[in-house]
Amino acid sequence: MNEVIHTTQDIFFSLGDSILEICYLIASLCFIFGLKMLSHPDKARRGNIIAAIGMGLAIIATILFHHKDGQPIGNIPLILLAIVIGSIIGWMVAIKVKMTAMPQLVSLFNGMGGAAAALISLMEFPHIKPELIDAYGMANGHVLAILLGLFIGSVSFAGSMVAFGKLDGRIGDIRASWIRYVNMGLLVILLGLIAFIMATGTSTESTQPLVYLILAIALVYGVFFVMPIGGADMPVVISLLNSFTGVAAAMGGFLYGNQAMLTGGILVGSAGTILTVLMCKAMNRSLMNVIIGAFGGSSASSQKEGGDIKEISLTDAAVLLSYSHKVVIVPGYGLAVAQAQHLCHDLDKLLEDKGVEVKYAIHPVAGRMPGHMNVLLAEADVPYEKLIEMDEINPDMQNTDVVIIIGANDVVNPAAEDDPGSPIYGMPIIKAHESKNIIVMKRGMGKGYAAIENHLFYNPKTRMLFGDAKATLQKLVAEVKSL
Ligand code: TAP
Repeated sequence: MNEVIHTTQDIFFSLGDSILEICYLIASLCFIFGLKMLSHPDKARRGNIIAAIGMGLAIIATILFHHKDGQPIGNIPLILLAIVIGSIIGWMVAIKVKMTAMPQLVSLFNGMGGAAAALISLMEFPHIKPELIDAYGMANGHVLAILLGLFIGSVSFAGSMVAFGKLDGRIGDIRASWIRYVNMGLLVILLGLIAFIMATGTSTESTQPLVYLILAIALVYGVFFVMPIGGADMPVVISLLNSFTGVAAAMGGFLYGNQAMLTGGILVGSAGTILTVLMCKAMNRSLMNVIIGAFGGSSASSQKEGGDIKEISLTDAAVLLSYSHKVVIVPGYGLAVAQAQHLCHDLDKLLEDKGVEVKYAIHPVAGRMPGHMNVLLAEADVPYEKLIEMDEINPDMQNTDVVIIIGANDVVNPAAEDDPGSPIYGMPIIKAHESKNIIVMKRGMGKGYAAIENHLFYNPKTRMLFGDAKATLQKLVAEVKSL
């Protein structure tokens, strides 16, 4: 009788294993297709949902079919409770968050991923099979995956929390040069500890204190790694930390032989790395330069003030825009701060009704996060075809009657092309200076993220329309309507 039960259970487990593998495969495909769809604003929302369905499927299948040493998964009520509480908190935070606070939210969520990966390692270390240690000592892939998951996950957690604090204005920058040396020292100690455990560890009990030491030092390293980086450089760092979390999660997938976790981790790790590289490239800076934080305000040649500023009245601006053939809008960080995207779209529709061709010039690092302008303008229902990438619109700038720059600064700064001493020299820019007329909308003569002077504002073709972007656009829309 017992044998029959045993066999039935075996069949059940083996069927469950097959279903689990199939579910993981489907989940992995959902992640891949979802990620692919995120690269286009039209499909991004659907891509997100598809990836979430994949994740949901992987979680449900794991709860139902995963088993270890003939035992199904335990603590199901606790797991479900944690899922429900986490989902409610995540949902509430996500619907409340303002677009401008998105980088902090991403950072917070990313930190949770890093913490989860570190906790997995911490929980799994005592469960390393003694047979494995007897056969290979601690120098095996399983132990390495646990220790790297702990190290990278903890750095990602602590770093993301500091990044969150900085972006939220709760923590300032500490730019002391000694931090670099402390960081190097901590990194050497961490790698040394991992090598030491693998080379000399004989049992999980005797090695456990060293594992806690790795956790503690990795957390301190995470804090010191992000602390000296300029607050506005955080998007690049968050993307880097994101890739760390992906690698740490992949370690967990490797540990459990879980294909979905492995694929998900690898995708997050590689996507984060690619994004980090692309952002650095778009700013023409090396990753080291971002990490050491040498950006902005350092070049004497870029600090000189340059000539007279000319202003334009609202009426003149409205007339100039209404009687143009081609207008290009260059949105920037200030548009997001002012939350003036809807008014910007109103202006564009009004001008189009008057027969003016209006396009938006999109710089890859305008704003403070990847795709910031695309998301902002999509929120205001600006048709996607009107958003033209920098490389595509630049050749047409000479034929543009008016370029209207709304809250952008660095991304139109000609110093990137003609001032070799400038910290942004070499950064590709939107060639607003080549347009026939330039209107710049900003509150005053405040600098941009790179904290350098912008000679475009002194260009004879430029006229400034000072004020908060929202208030100014409101008045400008009214003027254009009244013409
Ligand atoms: P910025 O160079 O930062 O300039 C924004 C301008 O907006 C400021 O000069 C400010 O001038 C103006 N402004 C602020 N609030 C305003 C408001 N309420 N109304 C009107 N104007 C307002 O912006 P950008 O041209 O978009 O360039 C982005 C910068 O961020 C680049 O240097 C880029 O490298 C960097 N960055 C971007 C990213 C990503 S991924 N996007 C990541 C890291 C760094 P006033 O104070 O005079 O108004």
